Amino acid sequence: MDTFIRSLPKAELHLHIEGTLEPEMLFDLARRNGLASSYGSVAELRAAYDFSDLQSFLDIYYEGASVLRTEEDFFDLTWAYLNRAAADGVRRAEIFFDPQTHTERGVSIETVINGIGGALDRSHELGMSTGLILCFLRHLSGKQALETLEMALPHRDRLLGVGLDSSEAGRPPELFRAAYDLARQEGLHLVAHAGEEGPPEYVWQALDVLGVERIDHGVRSIEDPVLVDRLVADQIPLTMCPLSNLKLKVVDDLNHHPLAQLQDSGVLVTVNSDDPAYFGGYVGDNYVAISAGLDLRQSETAQLARNSLTASFIFDDDPLFAEFDRVAGDQKI
Ligand code: ADE
Ligand code: ZN
Repeated sequence: MDTFIRSLPKAELHLHIEGTLEPEMLFDLARRNGLASSYGSVAELRAAYDFSDLQSFLDIYYEGASVLRTEEDFFDLTWAYLNRAAADGVRRAEIFFDPQTHTERGVSIETVINGIGGALDRSHELGMSTGLILCFLRHLSGKQALETLEMALPHRDRLLGVGLDSSEAGRPPELFRAAYDLARQEGLHLVAHAGEEGPPEYVWQALDVLGVERIDHGVRSIEDPVLVDRLVADQIPLTMCPLSNLKLKVVDDLNHHPLAQLQDSGVLVTVNSDDPAYFGGYVGDNYVAISAGLDLRQSETAQLARNSLTASFIFDDDPLFAEFDRVAGDQKI
């Protein structure tokens, strides 16, 4: 199963580049930048990755990201992720980054974008294409989101889209309407985290107020049958992240993950890794875990990979679709 899953050409659509910072690299970068760490060893840091909810994770994740200082740091982080993803059969990666996490502590947006972008420029060496999605931090204000996008616009050609992440509870998507309106005017793609911890109402708002094309997570959509009908009717993809949901206690068991029921209802569901350095697995591990947890047939697992290409922002005539069909055909799926 493992080799089969990794052999399928796939897209990763929900991946925070800051969430790929492995403890070993975190210590290396802290040393390189002359920073003290609050943890004594890699093992001690890994032991702290025991989360009770989204916020308990975010606190550690933002602290971890504080070792990223230079363009080289962002390049090294991104290049390491791309190599791991390529080994899992990822041929298209649409990657999130959180500029405010860095600009708030005095790192310029140029440093961040040039570092990540420099690695993305080389993704073709690994047989991949990539895009960069700027996420607004929803624990900060709508005004700060708008200012962040304005600050990023000199680098418009580096951006594929915008997204919305961080603490969801009590932070409805409508707070970010102005930033999304500007992003739309700029011709950027629009996505948002919704329905991870927040209610189905936030998924409705992301669709109807922000006008997003994909929902990141969307786990709690299952609570509202009318919303599920809407996701099916408009073929709005959900970028789901099984190991993340387990680690952050969004679900208590992968046997009970709503992905299967949503897929059976006709929702375009996809599998992704979210913050793999913190949640115990990259995208291939997520496919393996959810396929085992839900006892999926090989054809259902393959459909998830096919969905990831459909849900991505590549064009309908991209050669990746034909390549997928060839690989799947060779494996008699
Ligand atoms: N930032 C990084 N990972 C996140 C997640 N799973 N939910 C919200 N914000 C995030
Ligand atoms: Zn996420």
